[in-house]
Amino acid sequence: MGLRSTTEDAVASRYLQTCDIPLAENPLGPFVMVVFGGAGDLSQKKLLPALFRLYREGDLPHGFAVVGAGRASHSDEEYRNLIRKALREFRETPVEEGKIEEFLRRLFYWSEGPEEGANFEDLRAKIEAVGAPAADGRKQVIFYLAVPPGATPGIVSRLREANLSQGRFQARIILEKPFGRDLRSAGALNAVLKEAFSEDQIYRIDHYLGKETVQNIIFLRFSNSIFEHLWNRRYIDNIQITVAEDLGIENRGVFYEQSGVVRDIVQNHILQIIGLIAMEPPIGFSADFIRDEKVKVFRAIQPVDEKYTDLFMVRGQYASGKINGRSVPAYREEKGVDPNSFAPTFFAGKFYIANWRWAGVPFYVRTGKRMTRRTTEVVIQFYQPPLRLFGRACDTLDSNALVLTIQPEEKISLRFGVKYPYSANQIYPIDMSFCYQDAFQTPPYPAYERLLIDCLKGDLTLFVRQDQIEAMWEAVDPILKRWEETPPQDFPNYAAGTWGPVEAHRLLEREGRRWITA
Ligand code: BG6
Repeated sequence: MGLRSTTEDAVASRYLQTCDIPLAENPLGPFVMVVFGGAGDLSQKKLLPALFRLYREGDLPHGFAVVGAGRASHSDEEYRNLIRKALREFRETPVEEGKIEEFLRRLFYWSEGPEEGANFEDLRAKIEAVGAPAADGRKQVIFYLAVPPGATPGIVSRLREANLSQGRFQARIILEKPFGRDLRSAGALNAVLKEAFSEDQIYRIDHYLGKETVQNIIFLRFSNSIFEHLWNRRYIDNIQITVAEDLGIENRGVFYEQSGVVRDIVQNHILQIIGLIAMEPPIGFSADFIRDEKVKVFRAIQPVDEKYTDLFMVRGQYASGKINGRSVPAYREEKGVDPNSFAPTFFAGKFYIANWRWAGVPFYVRTGKRMTRRTTEVVIQFYQPPLRLFGRACDTLDSNALVLTIQPEEKISLRFGVKYPYSANQIYPIDMSFCYQDAFQTPPYPAYERLLIDCLKGDLTLFVRQDQIEAMWEAVDPILKRWEETPPQDFPNYAAGTWGPVEAHRLLEREGRRWITA
């Protein structure tokens, strides 16, 4: 047996120190979730089915209760009937009816009455009457706002006036995007929130952060020494992010007219992915250490001015076309959409992150509705080798790429070239892949459920902090402003079922590159 050197001991102890991640899970205590908009679409289609699935899998603690809240008047029993119908309609796997009935017994309803601005005093009584207190005797209450954005400030103010956000309850609030429509309005919304809640009570959902492969970005980068030293401007030629949807705007014409693609996808989901790809290693694994690093990335995004927007940002709107052999209408023909609408349904653009690690590396971003197929992918493309040793045979070969596929399947592939069998100097590209489902024989944990559980545990890591929201608006506000001032002349400019307007391809071709995701 050899003696361990002092250096080995030092390395070992250092390793233990830096891997000091608490392994014990926070046990979940009882809670009451008050869902504003509890009888609405989002609650029926998404939130209550997600809570039911968690219940069915035994992931919710004993003693929880859900109180649907809204203007409409329902008794507890009427509310249960409504949700029973929704669960039957939207459940994905057959379940015993008995489980549904058990779950429904935990549901209650509180009506704020038809008047706008009613006071919330009697909501307290409802909360007191249902669910169990936590071990410390205080009730854990989560206010979930499943309401249109305009309703948020009023509800938050009334929670504060009724002393429900602080005081006897241990309160948290969950909000869904949009968090404002620009930097100014995001600041105004935050001012209202901050009067009622402190930042660590606020859980702003970006459902992309709940996706397994999005979370995996941090693990891939910081638990594998083979990648991290290549992860910078010396080895990476460019980064490409594609969030392509084959769906159109479904029944959300009115919302989409106000929002458009930049507010809907770029300002939040795409920038969050950029944050994880580009951030420095956090000094620890706690929520704020990670969020601190991400916000630095958003702040370092090089500001885009008008000229830059005109040159390097592409907007598009879909015309009619075919997807999977089915004809689909143009955006301007969708319900709730102005027949002359200028709302963009497609974005492509180039961002730079002006910091030491990333200076000069283009981050190409592309997203759109009604594209060829549904896929979300991040491509890290490395430089070509310094010399073309294999002659013209490798002229058309893409350089090495690490591809993180976030959907439809969750996958990570490393692309590299090998010698083609029997050829003299023919290079052939192959993929070395990890597929979540094959490796773990289980589907990835659903994003939405993961976020709900994290909120119940009080873990803010996967939620968006206000300083991030503001820095992300700062990055996109100039683009929105420029586009609002200069209406497009060529809309609609891409056919449904394609990869977007031709300018999106030119954006890369001009720079000797091409979109790898196709
Ligand atoms: C939402 C957008 O945030 O994300 C929708 O409002 C979009 O327009 C959706 O369709 C995409 O989510 P996912 O998980 O299907 O990629």
